[in-house]
Amino acid sequence: MSLTQTKYAQAAPAPPNVMVIFGAGGDLTSRKLIPSLYYLFSADLLPENFAVIGLDRLDLDDDGFRALVAQQIASQVGAEFDRAVWDRLVARVHYMRIDMRSGPDYDLLCERLSRIDAERETDGNYLFYMAIPPSLFGEVNHHLGAAGLLHESEGDWRRVIIEKPFGRDLESAIALNNDLHRNMDEDQIYRIDHYLGKETVQNIMVFRFANSFFEPLWNRNHIDHMQITVAESVGVEHRGAYYEEAGATRDMIPNHLLVLLGFLAMEPPNSFQAKALRDEVNKVLDAIQPLTPEQVLTHAVRGQYGAGTMPNGERVQAYRASKGVDPKSHTETFAAIKLTMDNWRWAGVPFYLRTGKRLTAQYTEVAIQFKKAPTIMFQNTDVDQITPDMLVLRIQPNEGIQMSFSAKVPGPSMRVGTVNMDFCYEDYFGNKPATGYETLIYDCMKGDATLFKHADTVEKGWEIVQSVLDVWAALPPRDFPNYDAGTWGPCAAGDLTKNDGRLWRRIAVPKANGR
Ligand code: BG6
Repeated sequence: MSLTQTKYAQAAPAPPNVMVIFGAGGDLTSRKLIPSLYYLFSADLLPENFAVIGLDRLDLDDDGFRALVAQQIASQVGAEFDRAVWDRLVARVHYMRIDMRSGPDYDLLCERLSRIDAERETDGNYLFYMAIPPSLFGEVNHHLGAAGLLHESEGDWRRVIIEKPFGRDLESAIALNNDLHRNMDEDQIYRIDHYLGKETVQNIMVFRFANSFFEPLWNRNHIDHMQITVAESVGVEHRGAYYEEAGATRDMIPNHLLVLLGFLAMEPPNSFQAKALRDEVNKVLDAIQPLTPEQVLTHAVRGQYGAGTMPNGERVQAYRASKGVDPKSHTETFAAIKLTMDNWRWAGVPFYLRTGKRLTAQYTEVAIQFKKAPTIMFQNTDVDQITPDMLVLRIQPNEGIQMSFSAKVPGPSMRVGTVNMDFCYEDYFGNKPATGYETLIYDCMKGDATLFKHADTVEKGWEIVQSVLDVWAALPPRDFPNYDAGTWGPCAAGDLTKNDGRLWRRIAVPKANGR
């Protein structure tokens, strides 16, 4: 059982452990990991016998590192920041300078960990968090293995959380999995995808399977198509070098967007146990038809942003002008793809996925369009067409669910308009600050792998996008940049749905208060 709301209400603290963060000087540590630990600590979900040790190349001591992570925490947590909680947490934070490629440094790490373990009585349990570039995963794990740090003895555990991207294509993901399996068992590996930690993503399952009214309609007989939009208004910021290698497709589709698709399309699992859930997600991924090279030309669209003006009036530079980016870069900052599934429930139902940087809004949603109702009874009235019903699952911001359907417009003649019913999480459950990483870190400490990815799930994700990556690599784009920053992406993305007689849902840019 991994649903935060339930768990937070009755959950016990995680078992004693030391969390070892590789890449502690990076962005992820200060933006996500430390705030997550703060939230867990303040919810009494971390044990008293707990410590963190940050590892990186920066020349710092414990106090220096504590000062570094303290810089942003108050502003990140906001009004609810509790100095006393932070002081108790930060006293458990340590730092060690390390060259991650050097074997002898891992012997020093062993000694340091033994000391912390003895002082804090953490029972020899270590959680290694790989907040480092994927190119280092294999080597670091090899050194950890050689130093005996991955060896579990009676009564203690050693676990490794690995960040995405897991490889850069199918071949490298398989090689990385094989490499990791040389040093540890599959049940020690926790491949993280922070979309699995988002409350609203998990809620897709609750919405579908804890209610009985939509599930009978959740199939090809009633659903015309689904659209998944993960739009970002931010650019590549300081991650130009990483992004040049990744691009929008690798960065988002085989991981985050397919997580959403998996939950939307899965059959009801028998339980919330890791295996039951993974099996169902894997069946969905198995049923997705990878595009043939010919289909890539018509079913997938790429784009790269040029300079433009964002809706708030800010003038922003082109991707090619970003730091760390080749001025002639062919890397896509936008990708849209149409997928179909070969199974009984979804045969013939297209799933349109799109994601990109520097789009009009920072906004993630799933739009489920139902089939049109027959209009026979409205013949000889003023109604010439009826808009199909739509269900929108808003993932972020302003998490909620909206249903759009037809209603009679008051008046003497028969006219039909579209109306909305809207549910906002915040109205019912308040706005609990969270990074999405809390659940996942806590679950890993408890040994619950339900919301982590198995080796084969990751490989299946790559399999689905591999032909797109191959065709795009073989045919460099001729028209980049092909969309202005601040728009909804290249025109060709519109054709993807238009050619099927459909349209992307028009997303109203959320107002300042998120509504
Ligand atoms: C990360 C990607 O995994 O997810 C980023 O590397 C992206 O490029 C981010 O911005 C989006 O996450 P979220 O939680 O802001 O939707």
